[in-house]
Amino acid sequence: MEVYTHDLIILGTGIAGLRAALEAAQISQGELDIALVSKLQLMRAHSVAAEGGTAAVLRQDEGDSYELHAWDTIKGSDFLADQNVVDFFVQEAPQEILRLDHWGIPWSRREDGRIAQRPFGGHTYPRAVFAADKTGLLEMQTLYDTLTKHTKQLRRYDEGFVVSLVIENGRFIGLTMIDMLKGHSVFIRGKALILATGGAGQIFGFTTYSETVTGDGLALAYRAGLPLKDMEFIQFHPTGLIPSGILMTEACRGEGGLLLNNQGKRFMEVYAPAKMELAPRDMVSRSEMLEIEAGRGFPGPEGLDYIHLDLRGLGREKILERLPLIREVTLKHIGIDPIETPIPIRPVAHYTMGGVHTDLKGRTGIENIWAAGEVACVSLHGANRLGANSTAECLVWGRVTGAEAARYCKTVPAAEMPKNINQAWAQVEALIQSTGGEDHYQIRKELRHNLDLTLGVFRTGEKMETGLRKIRELKERYQFISVKDKSLRYNTDLIRAIETGFMLDVAETATLGALNRTESRGGHARQDFPARNDEHWLKHTLAYQAENGPRLEYCAVDVSMWKPVERKY
Ligand code: FUM
Repeated sequence: MEVYTHDLIILGTGIAGLRAALEAAQISQGELDIALVSKLQLMRAHSVAAEGGTAAVLRQDEGDSYELHAWDTIKGSDFLADQNVVDFFVQEAPQEILRLDHWGIPWSRREDGRIAQRPFGGHTYPRAVFAADKTGLLEMQTLYDTLTKHTKQLRRYDEGFVVSLVIENGRFIGLTMIDMLKGHSVFIRGKALILATGGAGQIFGFTTYSETVTGDGLALAYRAGLPLKDMEFIQFHPTGLIPSGILMTEACRGEGGLLLNNQGKRFMEVYAPAKMELAPRDMVSRSEMLEIEAGRGFPGPEGLDYIHLDLRGLGREKILERLPLIREVTLKHIGIDPIETPIPIRPVAHYTMGGVHTDLKGRTGIENIWAAGEVACVSLHGANRLGANSTAECLVWGRVTGAEAARYCKTVPAAEMPKNINQAWAQVEALIQSTGGEDHYQIRKELRHNLDLTLGVFRTGEKMETGLRKIRELKERYQFISVKDKSLRYNTDLIRAIETGFMLDVAETATLGALNRTESRGGHARQDFPARNDEHWLKHTLAYQAENGPRLEYCAVDVSMWKPVERKY
C-alpha cells in the first residue's frame, strides 16, 4: 500500500470542496500541505450541473433584506431549519457572490451593469444571482482558476475512490483509497478532513443527479460512527425532463415559463394562487402529481406521465440569452425546441436535505472532521430547500470549513500512523476475491426502482414498510455478490459494487427516518399523516449505524427567531 501524508485532506471537488480548498490555501499562507481527493477528474463534480442560480441579498436599496431571505428560507423549510444557521447564512452569502465577481465569474448583468438577479420559487424577492443557465459550471471554473495560484500547496488525487475513513481513539487519522488510474491501494494520512462529496440522488431511478452521486461521503461518515441527520427529507424538483430526468432549471419558471396540464390550464392557480409556478418546490411537485393522478397529465413512457413546461411566452431572444443550455439539452435529447414546443416534465429526485450532522461551523462529532455542502446537514434547509440556496450553502460553508480546518491544522502535530493500515483494506480484498452468485448491478437497479415506488413525492407507512423490507433483502443479497474484474486499475466493476453498498446504507437511513416520522412536513408528504405535527415532530432525526440497521435519535430545532406558523402561499 502506498502511503502519503498531508495536513488537510479535502474529499470532494464540487463547489464546496473547491471553495474550502481556496480558503484553506489562503489562510495557511504556504504553511499547510493540502490534499484534494475526488473519485472524478476535477471539473466533473456534479456541481457543474447546477443551473439556475445562487441566492443572496444584494439589493437592500431596492427592497430585499436579510430578514426577508431568512424568513423565506425558514418558511420554505417548513420550520425545520435551524434559525441561527439561516441567520448566519443570509449574512454570509452576499460576500461570496462578490468574491466570485472579483475572481472573474461572468455573472449575467442588468442593463445598468449591476449583477442581475432572477425570481426563484419560495423567494419573495428575485434574489438568484446567475450566469445564464450554467451557474454551477462557471462557479466551479472560477474557483478552480483561482485555486491554480496555490498549486504549490495542493496535491490532487483525481480518480481516487475512497473506501473508508480511518478513525482511531475517536480521531480521524486518514483514509484508504483506490488509485483508479494506477491500480494501487493508497493510505492518505491527514491532521483533518473536510467532507464535501455531495448528495445521494442515485438511490432513485428518476433523478437529476449524475451517475456518480452515490452517497459515498454519507456512507463513509455513517460507517465511521457519525450520525446522519434528517435523511427522510428528499427534494423532488418539479421539472425533470422526460424520460432522462435531466434538470430543467427552475429559472425556466423564474423567467416566465408556465406549467400546464392536459387541458392547457395553469393548474397552480388551484394550489398556490399567490405564487403560482414560483411556489416552493415541495408544493409544486405535489401539485403536479395530483394533476397527473387525476388524469390531467400526458401519458409518458414507463409510467412517467407528465406535465407541460411552456416557455413559448418568453420568446426566442430571452431563451437564447437566459436559457441556452435548456434549449441545447431539449433539442439534443428529445428533439424539442422550447421556443416552439412545450417541454414534457415531472417531479424528479433532486436534492438530499439531510446529511452528516454538523454544527454551525460545519464541525461533526469527530473533532478533526468537518462537512460542507450537500453531504452535510447544518440544518439550513430543514424539510424543504429553496432553489438557489444550495450553491450558496456550498460557498458559505466551503469557506467556513476551509478556514476552521486550516486553523486547526496549524495548531496540531502530524497524525500518527494507524496501527494496521491494511486492516481497512481487508473489505476491499474480500470484495475482489468474492465469488457469490448475486449481481450487484441488479441489486442497484432494484434498489433505485424500490425507492422510486416507496419514497417518492407522496408516501404512506405501508409503502415505506415494503420499501424497508426490500432494502434489507437487498442488503442480505449484497453479502453474496461477486466482482468479476479482479484487477485494481480502473476497475469500475469494483467501484460500482462498493458504491452500491454505500447506497444501500443511505437508502436505509432515509426510509427508516421517513417511516418513523408520522407527520407531513416539507418534502416528506405522508398520505396517512397529512398534517404537520409540531407537538411531536418539531425535531431533527439522527441516524446512527448500529448492528441491525440504523438507530434513530432526535434533537431540537433552533426556533429562536420566528415561531412556526401554518405554511401558506
Ligand atoms: O432549478 C435549478 O436551477 C436548481 C437549482 C437548485 O437546485 O438550487
